[in-house]
Amino acid sequence: MTEAILLVGGKGTRLRPLTVNTPKPMVPAAGVPFLTHQLARARAAGVDHVVMATSYLAEVFEPYFGDGSHLGLHLEYVTEREPLGTGGAIRNVADRLHSAPDEPVLIFNGDILSGVDIRSLVDEHTGSGADVTLHLTRVTDPRAFGLVPTDADGRVTAFLEKPQTPEEIVTDQINAGAYVFNRSVIDTIPLGRPVSVERETFPGLLDAGAHLHGLVDSTYWLDLGTPQAFVRGSADLVLGRAPSPAVPGRCGERLILETAEVAGDAKLTGGTVAGARSAIGAGARIEGSTLLDGVRIAPGAQIRDSLVGAGATIGAHTVLDGAVVGDGAVIGEGNELRSGIRVWCDAQIPAGAVRFSSDQ
Ligand code: GDD
Ligand code: MG
Repeated sequence: MTEAILLVGGKGTRLRPLTVNTPKPMVPAAGVPFLTHQLARARAAGVDHVVMATSYLAEVFEPYFGDGSHLGLHLEYVTEREPLGTGGAIRNVADRLHSAPDEPVLIFNGDILSGVDIRSLVDEHTGSGADVTLHLTRVTDPRAFGLVPTDADGRVTAFLEKPQTPEEIVTDQINAGAYVFNRSVIDTIPLGRPVSVERETFPGLLDAGAHLHGLVDSTYWLDLGTPQAFVRGSADLVLGRAPSPAVPGRCGERLILETAEVAGDAKLTGGTVAGARSAIGAGARIEGSTLLDGVRIAPGAQIRDSLVGAGATIGAHTVLDGAVVGDGAVIGEGNELRSGIRVWCDAQIPAGAVRFSSDQ
């Protein structure tokens, strides 16, 4: 096993309003573009050839990752003219694969942070003789995912993408977005039209009697679909809860990138990242947050579980809790921004303009 396909296209994959031009896979998590973690984990598991299947803004991936040699990978890019869906995207890159028909090819959704043991997934695939093996994880609310019930031997019995009715919620096992396909199965996906691997390919394979195998692995797993999840994922990478060989530095309470300036009595905890050229003032308290490059945090600010976009400024004694602040935004002093608030890129909030607590 040496090859993988990384799916990084489709709709809704930009982390608005965090940045205007940066697609989500390139937003830094623990100091490096998120995709770096997936690529480095694949490399560590023995993958040496990765095809990135993308349908938009491909031009941002290639200048950064190039031919992949700095990661020890041979990296190729294929851009769809129109989004082809997950299955169409996989089929569209089949001619870049070198694997023989019976050899396994790894496929990853590009928005997942996972600690799954990739080698075990491949070993399970080979050992069970399956056509396709899916990494499954358990979640309390499976409605936003693909439900994958299995029998006692781990054989997949159905694939129900985004169940609509309570009756359809037959399991808490979901598709975790990492698969091993036999190369020959990829070649059976129709070419040149949109195909959903979840809604068409998997149900079709099951109807045709193919052997789909599920491996439930309950190690770290997070879908980075929301900015809040992204902040959590970045902090977990820094804390070492989400394992990645690409974290630039030792895991611990904080990751302070080399050119950041942090005042002596500022306190950074809970997996906080201080981006390059950021400046953090005296007495600031920052917990579990991601501060991107060039952020300025004034003295006494208190920031928790928040994402602060590149070049944004946070005024003195301002409180952020579960907030997303877009690139270049300026939040004046003495504001209080809480759960779920999203401040658009370059927006300006005057001093003392927003509070959630009573006047004092
Ligand atoms: N190249 C390409 N072209 N990639 C695509 C396209 C496309 O047309 N459509 C989606 N993708 C990529 C996305 O960038 C993402 O990395 C992955 O395929 C999955 O698509 P999402 O749009 O993020 O799907 P989802 O999150 O709603 O559901 C998927 O992931 C869940 C786990 O997070 C499904 O695979 C579910 O079954 C699964 O449970
Ligand atoms: Mg997703």
